[in-house]
Amino acid sequence: MRKTYLLTPGPTQVPDRVLALSARQIIHHRTPQFTAIMEEVNAGLKYLFQTKQDVLLLASSGTVAMDAAVTNLFKTGDKVIAINGGKFGERWSKIATAYGLQTVELKLEPGTAATVKQVEALLVANPDARGVLFQASETSTGTRMPTREICALTKSRKDCISVVDAITALGVFDLPMDDWGIDVLITGSQKALMLPPGLACLALSDKAWGLAANANIPKFYFDLSKEKKAIAKGQTTWTPPISLIIGLQETLKMIREEGLHNVFKRHDLLARATRNAVKALGLEVLSKDPSNAVTAVRVPAEIKDGKLIPKTMRDKYGVSIAGGQDELEGKIFRLTHLGYIDRFDVLIGIGALELTLQDLGYSKFQFGTGTGAVLQTYKLT
Ligand SMILES: Cc1ncc(COP(=O)(O)O)c(C=O)c1O
Repeated sequence: MRKTYLLTPGPTQVPDRVLALSARQIIHHRTPQFTAIMEEVNAGLKYLFQTKQDVLLLASSGTVAMDAAVTNLFKTGDKVIAINGGKFGERWSKIATAYGLQTVELKLEPGTAATVKQVEALLVANPDARGVLFQASETSTGTRMPTREICALTKSRKDCISVVDAITALGVFDLPMDDWGIDVLITGSQKALMLPPGLACLALSDKAWGLAANANIPKFYFDLSKEKKAIAKGQTTWTPPISLIIGLQETLKMIREEGLHNVFKRHDLLARATRNAVKALGLEVLSKDPSNAVTAVRVPAEIKDGKLIPKTMRDKYGVSIAGGQDELEGKIFRLTHLGYIDRFDVLIGIGALELTLQDLGYSKFQFGTGTGAVLQTYKLT
């Protein structure tokens, strides 16, 4: 017998409470019963997004919400600044370019966050920029961006909005949408929302809705103005992923039970424990500004084929983690502490990592060094 553990940055583990619900018979969505669920879900999402705005639900993975933000908020030929700190930042440029926007890209070294000075300089050089598009947490490098500071820059500019992909950030660390002046905030179900993939959520500020009125990029299915009208009636425009929304009702209840700030504290503890463990093992964290969602770790020189680390962890020990993507393939591996994860999940991940490293010839540590660092972090907290 071998148990398996999912420690990837999405999909993440799904709580038993939600799995049990998915065994129930489906209900119809154009009913008072479903509208009541939608209303509770919307209230829970407002709590999570820390906004007074309605939160729209799209039957899609997270990328569609990024796509919809571009098609619903901008005009062909508009200029936007896209912060490219890795694979997902690069996606902003790709989407914007695909829809005929002019993209000014801020390309960062992998594992570094944009600085406020860099973004401000680009805004000064491009006073006609209509938006700054970035990730609150760049999953491919495990890097946290200075969301509050970047949004402060867009807040003071009349026709320029902040579009924040918080797909691995919302529900991990504090992102108070209204307080910080975040204009578009996006997340996806398979991350800190603790659900299977298939549902994206996004909210728009009044300023963003103002720009939406002038957007001219063709769209039909993912038309956010239609979703805005539907959500006001406790509905979605099209047939929604009913089971996922019922699951969301449950995970939002869990987040409220724990308390949003305790959820952030838990992620902070697990992220610190993970970083302390890999450092104790003599490894290097890639990011200079690490995100509490995922820790990217450089493959040590002693291991020639870095892709063997996630492979061995999964195939030999049953623990799924992520490797590097694109230019970072084989150079890093990523340990996740996001969503339905607690202290002992991290111990499992680090225990399997210790075994894997020794298997692959990296043996300059004693067994228990990493797991000991995890326990020590918990003890000191
Ligand atoms: C920061 C970030 N943005 C976008 C995406 C893409 O989301 P999806 O795969 O749900 O389309 C991901 C997925 O991992 C992500 O981590």
